[in-house]
Order: sequence, then C-alpha cells, then structure tokens
Amino acid sequence: MKATNLINQKNILVTGGAGYIGTHTLVELLSSGCQVVVIDNLSNASREALRRVEIITGKTVPFIKGDIRDRILLRSAFQGYEIDAVIHFAGLKSVNESVEEPLNYYDNNVTGSLALIEVMSEFGCKSLVFSSSAAVYGDPANVPVNERDSLSPTTPYASSKLMVENILRHVHVSDPAWSIAILRYFNPVGAHVSGLIGEAPNGMPSNLMPYVSQVAHGKYQKLKVYGDDYDTPDGTGVRDYIHVSDLASGHTAALEKLFCSSLSTDLGVMLTLNLGTGRGYSVLEVIDAFQKASGRLIEYEVVERRPGDAAKSFADTSLALDLLGWTAKHDINRMCEDAWRWQSMNPEGFESDK
Ligand code: NAD
Ligand code: WQD
Repeated sequence: MKATNLINQKNILVTGGAGYIGTHTLVELLSSGCQVVVIDNLSNASREALRRVEIITGKTVPFIKGDIRDRILLRSAFQGYEIDAVIHFAGLKSVNESVEEPLNYYDNNVTGSLALIEVMSEFGCKSLVFSSSAAVYGDPANVPVNERDSLSPTTPYASSKLMVENILRHVHVSDPAWSIAILRYFNPVGAHVSGLIGEAPNGMPSNLMPYVSQVAHGKYQKLKVYGDDYDTPDGTGVRDYIHVSDLASGHTAALEKLFCSSLSTDLGVMLTLNLGTGRGYSVLEVIDAFQKASGRLIEYEVVERRPGDAAKSFADTSLALDLLGWTAKHDINRMCEDAWRWQSMNPEGFESDK
C-alpha cells in the first residue's frame, strides 16, 4: 500500500472497468487502498480480465454487468454502494468504426455519459474523472500540444469526446460543487508488468502497438507502415506513446486532486489535462524498440499514408506535473517489453470468455 493518501478507503465506481485502461486503473486504485465497483456491458471486454485484476491485487472486484445508458441499473449501483467518485471509461473507441456508425458512437459515448452524470447528480455524487482523448486536437498545428491549443475533432469518435467535455464544463459552471478531471490520453500502450492483463483487440488491430505485437508473435506476416514522407525525422508518423500503468497512476493522482480540493473548500475544481510522456516516437522507432524487446524480426512495408493521420502529435505535460505532481515513468523500451510479455503469455487475449 502507498503512503498516506486521500483516496484510501474511498469507494470508486469505474464504468468500463473491464476494458484495457480500466483494468490497469483498477490495479492502481486497489493498491492505493480504494474500494471499487465496476459497471461494464462487456461489449469490448471479458469477465476474465476482472478475475486477472483480482489475482494481481488479491482483492475482490465487485462487478455489475450492464450498460451505462440504463439509468435503473446505474441507480442500483449508487443505492448498493456509497460511491465517492466515478472514473468514467465506458464508451466505444474505434475511430474508423465511428465513421461507419456515428449514431452508435454518439449514443454510447454522449447519451451514456449524460445518463451517468444525471444519476450521479441524483445521488449527490459530484466527483468525476473522464476519459477524453488527444483526438480532440485533430491534426495539431504545433507540438507539443497544450491544453489551451485549438480543438478540431475530425471524426465522430473525437467529436463525441469533445461533446462530453463541453457537457462537463457546463455542468461545473451550473454547479461549481462538481469536481471534474477531464484527462486527454495520448497513445496508451503496454501492459501490466505481470503479463496478466493487457490490450485484447477484437480481430485485426488498427493501432500500431498491438499490430506490431501480433506480427512479432507470427499472427500477421508484416506491418504496413502508413507513409514515410511526413515532415518528421525519419518520415514516419510520430506519437506520444504512454505506458498504460503510467496512465493508470494519472487517474489516482487526478482523484487525489479532486478529493484534496473538496477538503479545503465547498467548491469543486474543473481540470482538463493531457496525459502523455511529452516525448514522441516514430513508427520506425517503435518497430526498432519492439524488435529489441521481443528478439523477433518485425517485417514491414511502407504503404500510402492512412487518411486523417497527423504527422506528429505529442503532449505538453507540464500542466499535469504542476497540478497533479504526476509524470509518466516508463520509456518506450519498457512499453514494448511489457506489451511483448502480455502478447506472449496471452496470444488469444482473454479468450472468448464473455
Ligand atoms: P476498452 O474498449 O478496452 O474499454 C472500454 C470499456 O467500456 C469496455 O470494457 C466496454 O465493454 C465498456 N463499454 C463500452 N460501452 C459501454 C456502455 N455503453 N456501457 C457499459 N460499458 C460499456 O477501451 P480503453 O482503451 O480501455 O479506453 C477506455 C476509455 O478511454 C474510452 O472511453 C476511450 O474512448 C478512452 N481513450 C482510449 C484511448 C486508447 O487508445 N485506448 C485513447 C484515448 C481515450
Ligand atoms: C500510431 C502511428 C500511424 C498502424 C489512435 C486514435 C486516437 C487514440 C489512440 C482513442 C500513426 C502508424 C498505425 C499501422 C502504422 N484512441 N501506424 N501502421 O492514430 O495516433 O491514435 O489511437 O482515443 O484517438 O486515433 O494511433 O496506433 O493507430 O497509429 O504505420 O498498422 O502508427 O500512421 O503514425 P493514432 P495508431
């Protein structure tokens, strides 16, 4: 257990807690002395992931299977547990799918968030951490990107995130007792050091790191590198990859900040923060690091640019450091080592145990 903290013994409702970032955050919450309850409809997750969290932490994870758009279900969670704060991960996250199914994305991400915020309000629970995305910046004009830079979501997914951000800002204006942290994640990768939990995409991954992992493992023959003619040092796209366990500790730091503010005043806080490392890596650098971590050759071919991709995106992380005292610790080698351990130990993810 960590040294004294304000989140110790607090009850945290984690929506979407069975997913990739959710499970890693549960580990962090439980090891910080919180109690948790998870709501997840398992649309992109497995019950097995929560069992693995229980193995890692030695603690029980109460689980309610259901949808956050179901207000009756949400109310039952607030009636059954004295919830002090919510971390809201539940939502759909595939950029491409959001272009094909915009209504589904707005319904899950925006309607779902509205239902959650309303039910929180009914129960007087006004502390919330929300998963937003660097996608709200679109193709940033300048890097590193800071929180005051212009927002230009280019897909229904990114737009749904910005809508929820705006709803939350308006909720805070209407009732300043709300304490809200909007966290804009850059590119979460890697896995828990145990190799027991990690990212388990359905079907062919569209993101770089899981695809590279599966090429290393032999599931796919070669990686397609989407363009090598960008204005970057080696011509390939540059991103701010952040270890998912660092991202998880960003959530406990944000919760600490929310609880700390409510100690000294009746007014809540409204924070919007980037969570990244502040360092960009190119696609070729990721391939190189993964080859070293895995000892496997990653075959690749350069193909056309992927439509909509930015040349480079990485975070200005100074605000998260100033306000939360939080900074990411793991480098790209460690991200690849942990991703590889997870991939090798779980080639089929969590299997089909839904
Ligand atoms: P994930 O798909 O692994 O986790 C999301 C979880 O929410 C899943 O377990 C899914 O079953 C659940 N869920 C979806 N819709 C639901 C609903 N209506 N009701 C109840 N449960 C529902 O995704 P993740 O990578 O862990 O992402 C978590 C959050 O972070 C998402 O909101 C995502 O948009 C955001 N985010 C992710 C990334 C990333 O690259 N992984 C980057 C930026 C932001
Ligand atoms: C990274 C780099 C690609 C795959 C996406 C979402 C974003 C956020 C994180 C949710 C780019 C290149 C990729 C491949 C490649 N998710 N690449 N071959 O696009 O930065 O961000 O995930 O919020 O919203 O847009 O991540 O991992 O897809 O791509 O060359 O097979 O790898 O061109 O430069 P991206 P990514």
